[in-house]
Amino acid sequence: MPANQQITELTLPLFDDFHLHLRSGNALTRTVSDASFWARRAIVMPNLQPPVDSFDLADNYRAEIIKNIPAERNFEPLMTLYLSENITTDTVKQAKERGIFAIKWYPKGATTNSEQGISSVQACYPIFAEMEKQELPLLIHGEVTDVDIDIFDREAVFIDRVLIPLRREFPNLKITMEHITTARAVEYLCSLPETEKTAATITPQHLLFNRNQLLVGGIKPHFYCLPILKCETDRKALLQAATSGNPRFFLGTDSAPHAQNKKENSCGCAGCYSGLNAPALYAQAFEEAGALDKLKNFACKFGADFYGIETENSDKRLKIIRKENTIPANLDYGEDKVIPLLAENKIHWQIERI
Ligand code: DOR
Ligand code: ZN
Repeated sequence: MPANQQITELTLPLFDDFHLHLRSGNALTRTVSDASFWARRAIVMPNLQPPVDSFDLADNYRAEIIKNIPAERNFEPLMTLYLSENITTDTVKQAKERGIFAIKWYPKGATTNSEQGISSVQACYPIFAEMEKQELPLLIHGEVTDVDIDIFDREAVFIDRVLIPLRREFPNLKITMEHITTARAVEYLCSLPETEKTAATITPQHLLFNRNQLLVGGIKPHFYCLPILKCETDRKALLQAATSGNPRFFLGTDSAPHAQNKKENSCGCAGCYSGLNAPALYAQAFEEAGALDKLKNFACKFGADFYGIETENSDKRLKIIRKENTIPANLDYGEDKVIPLLAENKIHWQIERI
């Protein structure tokens, strides 16, 4: 492979997106079509309204997603359950045979549609014990929600107060810290012995931007997501982690569309829509780090290995080409519009399916 600076084209297997919001109803036309263009599989988040917290709801949601997959696309949604009061140890016992890939824990109040989440980690311990037994992965939105904790500190405090004790209590539970945003998270993950079953997903926005992008020169709601963008030191640590070849770090876009008017609002929703062209955004970040050769494992291997599913299972390929292009100003989104991440800005990577 040529030195990174000279790479003008990458041909890779279709990606796995291990953290994706597809939404429901007529939003699925957009989200499923966009993601299935470049992703072979995706872990689908369950924070719908009402939350996907039963096998029936998950089955219906899967069927709805599958109906929206364009012809000739081979896309597999990996379904999750939302950890609400309705989840019991019996649910966990049956989950795998009912086609559930993982359970997602949103601490109550942490983010979009997390009101039915569980606030007390101890209250979940019997569930986590059963998940450990059943080898069902736990996906965590890792932020505390205490009013006295600054929004920029919520992830680091979660690691110290919640994750470390949880890790100790359930040494065999497979845990994914979703969308990490801090140098503290990177440091924690890198400090773990190799045998620890802990991993993290990283989004394109947290690799590309710091909080100045959100706040300098006016407030930019389309860069607002949760966990919120952090400072440059954090971004650099994430970029280093993603491009380091450490298999604990892998791709999860957290692409989370909201209609334009829900974002451009006096109380705007959290979420960036990267579903249109996430591989191009990641390529831009990996290029900045001089590490385009590290993108393949981050996007196509490490996550699959962590979850114990096969890699390289599609004859389709994704071509990522170095070619300047402008991201559209907006996209159809049901009856509304969604503003993609970096709308109207130029990026120098483009994706094709071959
Ligand atoms: O920014 C975010 N948007 N973060 C989340 O955790 C949830 C997501 C959403 O569903 O809108
Ligand atoms: Zn998410």
